[in-house]
Amino acid sequence: MEAIVLVGGQGTRLRPLTISTPKPMLPAAGVPFLTHQLARARTAGIEHVVLATSYRAEVFSEHFGDGSSLGLRIDYVTETDPLGTGGGIRNVVDRLESGPSDPIVVLNGDILSGHDIPAQIAAHRAAGAVATLHLVRVDDPSAFGSVPTDDRGRVTAFVEKSPEPVTNQVNAGCYVFDRALIDTIPAGRVVSVEHETFPALLAAGAVVVGYVEDAYWLDVGTPAAYVRASADLVRGVVASSAVERPGDAWVSPSARVVGAARVSGGSAVGPDVAVEAGSTVDGSIVMDGATVGSEVSVLRSVIGRGAELGDGCRLVDAVVGDGARLGAGNELTSGARVWPGVRLPDCAVRFSSDA
Ligand code: GTP
Repeated sequence: MEAIVLVGGQGTRLRPLTISTPKPMLPAAGVPFLTHQLARARTAGIEHVVLATSYRAEVFSEHFGDGSSLGLRIDYVTETDPLGTGGGIRNVVDRLESGPSDPIVVLNGDILSGHDIPAQIAAHRAAGAVATLHLVRVDDPSAFGSVPTDDRGRVTAFVEKSPEPVTNQVNAGCYVFDRALIDTIPAGRVVSVEHETFPALLAAGAVVVGYVEDAYWLDVGTPAAYVRASADLVRGVVASSAVERPGDAWVSPSARVVGAARVSGGSAVGPDVAVEAGSTVDGSIVMDGATVGSEVSVLRSVIGRGAELGDGCRLVDAVVGDGARLGAGNELTSGARVWPGVRLPDCAVRFSSDA
């Protein structure tokens, strides 16, 4: 069984973290996020993966190589100019080894999903579909395009985002395609699978099936979703064979967390990090080589590689870019983002922790 994983996007919503690292390679629970997806693909019986790369393509091959460490064979195809989701899928067709009527799994590289991929493939085969989409039901579908299905499970429309969606079923970003369908996507130009390929299939009367499964599902596109995904992986809320032992936190063996500091809530603390006395790191990601001073509070935040937080800093729902330095007493809340390398001076006004 083969899979194509789309990893060529720029990840603009996750800037500045994605300036140096493509979104699927950001660390989650101590390993690049994509590792969890590849491990899940392997568990589902996939042996050959083609990564459709573009933005910072070299980072993927440098890390995963031929894929053998994950029990996979990985090929890489790079778009010099990004071709969009459909164009990226079409662009890797020469690397596929399956026959025309064989199913190919296609995954967005930024989805964390606990759904049953073999069951989705089985549904595809049973329905004789050309394409089968994993659909999830979400509480607030207004932020997504919605995908209604009929009583046989066939997709009846692809409806754009709307304040009053027709259904709470949304596209979960994992597809099963007949190999022959991929050959029909136009080559050499930008194509959106969501906006062009799927609507065209419906217009042509093709059998497109919705496989609805309400398993764990998260679109890891924003900082809030990214910290949640990592914490859920650390705590085992969603299973991954790339997480050795789920627990309240993951701390790299080379990190130094002093006894009087507390790391909890699914936090991931990377190699060579230092966390000083009296600090708390909760539900957060602290990347390689970062320094957390004393009496610091970090909640649901991301601290980039080599960043420094001075004593008494307080961060809630914040992102600190690689190598940034926050002087003592700075307070960042509600989606604040500090760009890489920025220096913030000490803050004259200190906030007491119970203020
Ligand atoms: P934002 O810029 O924050 O929206 O993120 P993104 O660039 O990742 O876009 P989006 O979340 O819509 O992409 C969904 C998936 O498709 C991600 O796994 C992307 O890496 C991938 N993707 C998006 N555009 C392209 C492209 O042009 N080529 C390839 N190969 N993959 C793409």
